[in-house]
Amino acid sequence: MQLIGPFKQLIPMSGLSIKGAISDDDLLVFEDAGLLIDGAHIKAIGKFDELKVTYGHAEIHVLKGDHTCLPGFIDSHTHICFGGSRATDYALRNSGKTYLEIAKAGGGIWDTVTQTRKASQEQLVKKTTKLANRHMKNGVTTLEVKSGYGLSVSEELKMLRAIQEANRGTSTDLISTCLAAHMLPKDYQGDATEYLMEIADTLFPILQQEELTHRIDAFIEDSAFSEEEIRPYFQRATNMGFDITVHADQFSTGGSAVAIACGAISADHLEASTPTEIALLAQSDVIATALPGASLGLGCSFTPARKILDAGGALAIASDHNPGSAPMGDLLTQAAILGAFEKLSNAEVLAGITFRAAAALNLTDRGQLKEGALADFILFHTSDYKEILYNQGNFKPCVVFKKGVKVFDKHQ
Ligand code: NIG
Ligand code: FE
Repeated sequence: MQLIGPFKQLIPMSGLSIKGAISDDDLLVFEDAGLLIDGAHIKAIGKFDELKVTYGHAEIHVLKGDHTCLPGFIDSHTHICFGGSRATDYALRNSGKTYLEIAKAGGGIWDTVTQTRKASQEQLVKKTTKLANRHMKNGVTTLEVKSGYGLSVSEELKMLRAIQEANRGTSTDLISTCLAAHMLPKDYQGDATEYLMEIADTLFPILQQEELTHRIDAFIEDSAFSEEEIRPYFQRATNMGFDITVHADQFSTGGSAVAIACGAISADHLEASTPTEIALLAQSDVIATALPGASLGLGCSFTPARKILDAGGALAIASDHNPGSAPMGDLLTQAAILGAFEKLSNAEVLAGITFRAAAALNLTDRGQLKEGALADFILFHTSDYKEILYNQGNFKPCVVFKKGVKVFDKHQ
């Protein structure tokens, strides 16, 4: 057993509701705290001095200086397995072309599909591992990664096998998701329904045999798939036991209704959601995920996070890190900026990147510091947790622990 501390503040993110608004007054703050770890899990949280007496036999790590301890961040939506770059798309967008215009002209997602198909599995492993390690150093100890730039059975398999291999080469946990329904591949000889049924018939069973993923995602949008096309696809997936997540209401509404009807774990984007969609989401168990990185990358409005919370919804915040719409890939910066624009409390922003993000991945073993949870935690050099979001992402963790092991230390 290891005892770590004392922390000026330890914010366990426990005892808070999964849904609805949270005030900073609701946030538990332990002062002069210690964290007792048994292997990969948390054994106890309490006053450092008291834990030292009770667990005198533990290996004791005494911290010098001021530290604040939080659960490791969880980024529940990324596309960090890809080939190439879309810097040209970004320049075109900033010269006045829209995301959808660029996509229709052959840029956009299809451009990355072409680049990703050219890359070998090994090249994808290398790139994904590198980006995952960057997120880890920024405090992200669980990171979702989607396929969706392969768009054929064999190319989607290449991506998902690369993500599986990258997971072995990084200390952050990679949670993979199959996004074969990202768009209808331009070279497919058939219609959307035929493509989706081929994926369900051929790819889904292999995903289960090789344990490549238990999550299925789809992009419901004019430029991608319609509600009618996706419903039977999701039905096939749920019948086989997959969890569902949806790219919903990004430019037009419709996706969130499918998410609710199909019992999805999360509906992500929601920039276009109106009060009708917000009310329905809030009444459901679907986690609404804001992706401020996509709003920043596309220069468009943020997900109505304040309205979702005030309606009683559950709000996660993820980076959407991808080469097209969200190239920045900095969850903490983006979450802090979303908080400033949408008027979110510290507690709401931190919940969105910890336990509410865990719920968006259907994970119950992380996102909070409490007995029995994974010992995934991060330290910031401060005596006041409010400094973290106040610095708008420019203040990063100095130490990262994953499953009880120190995996990053700024000073070493
Ligand atoms: O979440 N919206 C669709 N898919 C991604 C963008 C992927 C891309 O542009 O390459 C997203 O923003
Ligand atoms: Fe996305």
